[in-house]
Amino acid sequence: MLRHNPVAQETKQRVTLSTLIEPFVGRTGGLISALHEVQRVHGFLPEETEAEAAQAFNLTRAEVKGVISFYHDFKRAPQGKTVVRVCAAEACQAAGGRDVIAAVEKKLAVKMGETSASKDVTLEPVYCLGLCSTAPAAMVGDRLVGMADADKIEKAFERAKKESAS
Ligand code: FES
Repeated sequence: MLRHNPVAQETKQRVTLSTLIEPFVGRTGGLISALHEVQRVHGFLPEETEAEAAQAFNLTRAEVKGVISFYHDFKRAPQGKTVVRVCAAEACQAAGGRDVIAAVEKKLAVKMGETSASKDVTLEPVYCLGLCSTAPAAMVGDRLVGMADADKIEKAFERAKKESAS
């Protein structure tokens, strides 16, 4: 019977993180590239990333944390199977984006910035998708949705779910 060994698992993850980070040390923009690489492999930045990156780049954890929190693209937790992004920038807000966000939170039963318990969906804000002329806008998986409302977003989400299941 296989037993869960948290120490071995943590050691393995630390090795993996340092292996991913080290090739970028000393390069211009190395920290950002290293963080992207960790996220590409893990799907998010595991908690230990801060400590590993700080040590590798001779920075404080606070400095690394500052970089991670500055860029919205860095994720601190695993994402849902489908990521639904609703634009929260000015043009979309002026076109009723706030109401769309509230309605989508209800329809998909997940709060903005969170992942559903089923891990089916992550709902997150985005700051301009380049669709301002058809605001409010959203992106469901890799599909753009202009003149978005909760129904359109839910339909796009159901479609994305079906596509990922087949
Ligand atoms: S402000 Fe929402 S798409 Fe540009």
